[in-house]
Amino acid sequence: MTVLVTGGAGYIGSHALLRLLREGERVVTIDNLLRGHRRPIELLQERFPGKLTFVEGDIADEGLVSGVMAAHGVTTVMHFAALTYVGESVEKPLWYWTGNAAASLALLRVCDRSGVERFIFSSTAATYGQPGAEHVPIVETTPQHPINPYGASKLAFEQMLWDWCRQRASSGRPVGAAALRYFNVAGCDRGGLLGEDHDPETHLIPVILQAALGLRERIDIFGEDYPTPDGTCIRDYLHVEDLVDAHVRVMRALQPGETRRYNLAIGRGYSVREVIEACRAVTGREFAVRAGARRAGDPPVLYADPSLIANELGWRAEVTDLHAIVESAWRWFLEHPRGYGDSPARA
Ligand SMILES: NC(=O)c1ccc[n+]([C@@H]2O[C@H](COP(=O)([O-])OP(=O)(O)OC[C@H]3O[C@@H](n4cnc5c(N)ncnc54)[C@H](O)[C@@H]3O)[C@@H](O)[C@H]2O)c1
Repeated sequence: MTVLVTGGAGYIGSHALLRLLREGERVVTIDNLLRGHRRPIELLQERFPGKLTFVEGDIADEGLVSGVMAAHGVTTVMHFAALTYVGESVEKPLWYWTGNAAASLALLRVCDRSGVERFIFSSTAATYGQPGAEHVPIVETTPQHPINPYGASKLAFEQMLWDWCRQRASSGRPVGAAALRYFNVAGCDRGGLLGEDHDPETHLIPVILQAALGLRERIDIFGEDYPTPDGTCIRDYLHVEDLVDAHVRVMRALQPGETRRYNLAIGRGYSVREVIEACRAVTGREFAVRAGARRAGDPPVLYADPSLIANELGWRAEVTDLHAIVESAWRWFLEHPRGYGDSPARA
């Protein structure tokens, strides 16, 4: 069996590659390098000679993807490739529908024609939109009402997956599919090989660490008047290695004809102020913090109930201490203050 990882040059995809290679899987990855980096792929190829094939290309290119599927005998797909910025999706909705829905549909069409037996999709808490306080912690049956094109395009692909599975089961060629809905993914490979390098960076922990490195003038807090203990928003942060561990468990468990939906999270939230204090404690550095106005569309408290995957597959986050999550990221940021260093914006 060969696993196709889409978006393997990105943050989460590269961590998934590392884990799959450690498990002894044969892996091929397709990435168009729009937002990813060549360097993590090279590092993985050096660490696991002959085990990882990289194909530079777009998942919407059906000819290219079918060739990869046939050449490598792909039976499992982990689909991480996506456009991932909420704000950008509001600015460029059609680009997001093309990149996340149409491109993923093209990938699925190729899967349908090839020997793919399981498909694991990176979905997101953004598919839930702004659930009211009565829906927190969020469970998998919480109504999904996305409030931006990013969340909507991800939810649309979930629907395509379920329709595909239903049709394949009824035609006697069943396939298994899972949508894993991530909350906030954070931290870096604790072995120090791989890190997080988004450009632009919008995630809270790396943004704070960039401020601690002196690469940003300050941290802006968007709203300090929310109905939370310290007035700042509360989110659920999961270590990236725990996240990829869940993918491997799902891959091993998923049977033809099954559809699974899981929230991936630790099941408790930390406020923006708590994250800032954890970063101060871990880095031992001072940086400026400015409190500003609320941002439209930010619910005060978002965290998940991960008990469905715990009960069904025995998965639980191992790294539940915020300091440990930050420490793993800080180690990588200290050694790579400018990330992987191949991004044109940083050259
Ligand atoms: N990072 C988070 O906290 C988070 C939270 C929820 C969901 N997710 C989901 O996880 C997945 C990975 O996120 P990430 O943070 O690693 O993002 P990332 O931008 O680091 O990685 C995405 C990768 O996909 C590639 N890519 C994008 N479109 C492509 C296409 N059409 N063809 C080929 N390659 C393409 C990019 O070049 C990049 O390397 C995404 O699907 C995202 O929606 C991430």
